[in-house]
Amino acid sequence: MGLLIKNAIIVNADKTGQAPQDILCDGGKIARIAAGIAAGGHETIDAAGKKVLPGLIDIHTHLRQPGREDKETIETGSRAAVKGGFTSIMCMPNTNPVIDNAMVVEFIIREADRVGLCNVYPIGAVTKAQKDEELTDMAELKSAGCLAFSDDGKSVLNSRLFRLAMEYAMMLDVLIIEHCQDPLLTAGGVMNEGIVSTKIGLKGDPGIAETVTVARDIEIARYLGARVHLAHMSLKRSCELIRFAKSQGIKVTAEACPHHFTLTDEACSGFDASTKVNPPLRTQEDVDAIKEAIADGTIDCIVTDHAPHTKEDKEVGFDGAPFGLIGLETSLSLTMTELVKPGIISLNQMADKMSAAPARLVGLTGKGAVRQGYDADLTIIDPDKEWTVTREGFVSKSKNSPFIGRKLKGSVEYTICGGRVVYKI
Ligand code: DOR
Ligand code: ZN
Repeated sequence: MGLLIKNAIIVNADKTGQAPQDILCDGGKIARIAAGIAAGGHETIDAAGKKVLPGLIDIHTHLRQPGREDKETIETGSRAAVKGGFTSIMCMPNTNPVIDNAMVVEFIIREADRVGLCNVYPIGAVTKAQKDEELTDMAELKSAGCLAFSDDGKSVLNSRLFRLAMEYAMMLDVLIIEHCQDPLLTAGGVMNEGIVSTKIGLKGDPGIAETVTVARDIEIARYLGARVHLAHMSLKRSCELIRFAKSQGIKVTAEACPHHFTLTDEACSGFDASTKVNPPLRTQEDVDAIKEAIADGTIDCIVTDHAPHTKEDKEVGFDGAPFGLIGLETSLSLTMTELVKPGIISLNQMADKMSAAPARLVGLTGKGAVRQGYDADLTIIDPDKEWTVTREGFVSKSKNSPFIGRKLKGSVEYTICGGRVVYKI
């Protein structure tokens, strides 16, 4: 018995289906797409009035297991993922121990399989223990299941090591994801350096901490002819540098997070530690530039940077709190509300930025489109339904969201992974 989705308006990155279709999922794959497929004993979902998108893919999630299971586990993170419409997530290696050897990779894959809600792909560290001293065995990590490498949480500051990592990545055909932030320039800053930080008396992190790293990485990529993917871009100037690099044929790609196109540093003035994030929330000019860069293709994909932290960890005053906010359960609706509804991007572009492009970037074949023969990973949304973000509504173990109380448009109705319903509203 398969799963039959009736009356589906299919939204792919390249086009929207004109007439409703039925989608038959069988054996974990999309077996058939046609009008009027007979119900024939299949489990059936009526998608009339809704849109069916390729399952969302987040290439930037923090799951905290192993090491900080009080913040999030693979199980609670998977639950948050499918509630947010994600069928595949890639988890960052800044766990304890760090994802820098095959054993940790195997543990995460095994645990994710046991949970069985969504696909979880571990991201390997670039340097051992993320210490910026010695490269990991990227070939071994790739064999264990890593499709990408990053020292996220911080930059690979050692430029020689970063060059070597890019050379290995080129040989192995894996993606290097760089967190761009020079700590010597950040120098203990806790929010964006600017008028607001001066007014409220918090130490500022200047935008050049990001842009000098962006520029360096682009230059190394240019020199080697290698690919580099720049994580959570937050600045107008970063977008300008990437746009120029792309115009020169340099193989740079980039991502942005919903909080960087919905909030400014003004949000920090209430000293709510859930607005403390790396890179920091910037200015309205930056927010507008990020939106424009998403629309014109300078920014390739939208990621959550889901970074769970406990109440206890966050409630120690703005200066002492860890950086990060949760995003898995709000990303789709924030994107719908702030980008799709105002006409900045189309639903097709959203399907690209949140599914097709991420799949392409890390080489997930058979994902990122609703197409016969592809994996039956699907996200069914109601594009018009309004809902309000509440603390109690989060299934993530952590609740550090600056969006609590916000009214959003667009909701996830069903998440289907490998032809199984893994979430239903
Ligand atoms: O705000 C952030 N939190 N930015 C990062 O890069 C890391 C993340 C975390 O691990 O908490
Ligand atoms: Zn990061």
